Amino acid sequence: MSTPHNSAHPDQIAPIVLMPGDPLRAKAIAEKYLKDPICFNSVRNMLGYTGTYKGQKISVMGSGMGMPSIGIYSYELYRFYNVETILRVGSCGAYSPDLHLRDVVLVDSAWSESTYARSQSDDPRSIQLPDSGINQILVQTAQHLEIPLKPIRIHSSDVFYHEDDKAADLAKQNGCAAVEMESFALFHNADILGKKAACLCTVSDSFVYTDEELTSQEREQDMDAMIRLALESVIR
Ligand code: HPA
Repeated sequence: MSTPHNSAHPDQIAPIVLMPGDPLRAKAIAEKYLKDPICFNSVRNMLGYTGTYKGQKISVMGSGMGMPSIGIYSYELYRFYNVETILRVGSCGAYSPDLHLRDVVLVDSAWSESTYARSQSDDPRSIQLPDSGINQILVQTAQHLEIPLKPIRIHSSDVFYHEDDKAADLAKQNGCAAVEMESFALFHNADILGKKAACLCTVSDSFVYTDEELTSQEREQDMDAMIRLALESVIR
């Protein structure tokens, strides 16, 4: 069986899926880290691959940007492809002066003003949570690999280009240290379907240190720490 957005057969997708936002990042991760990667989806160019990492079957698929997009792809993976765990590997913008470019953060809760959860299942909560067991494994693996990992609450925003600071101020008042656009919907889908989700992000820009910038090579290396952490964690 396939879906309107995914042409794979269920046995082509592993129970564990790494999910970057960018489908070309999914392709790059598959080609760099997985053995014998096979593309299982190219509908709308939302590329997905399955291969093995240290002998274990792993899939990697793009989510697209924003909650409607990750909402569709993650729902279908959980519901129609028997996926048990989705680990988002994304990027975020830092609100907090404690976060710098290239830091890897572990999302311990996602706050949002979005209506995603309310619309999806009449869930009024403005905070959605990742799987605590997966987060524990991520923390332990990070210690083992000596990759500094900062646990934070993230703001999952529906809007990238804001006309003023009101949304960011509200998110900060609610304890958010950084902003992205996907975790809240991913965690909600996992929750309603009895599945597992977690999110690692690399800080790609800062609202505090606005003059900080990364070269493209630095960006690649930063992602490298996060992807190694993700892969080593999911095979444990
Ligand atoms: N805003 C929203 N999402 C993001 C950002 C941002 O500044 N940076 C990376 N993902």
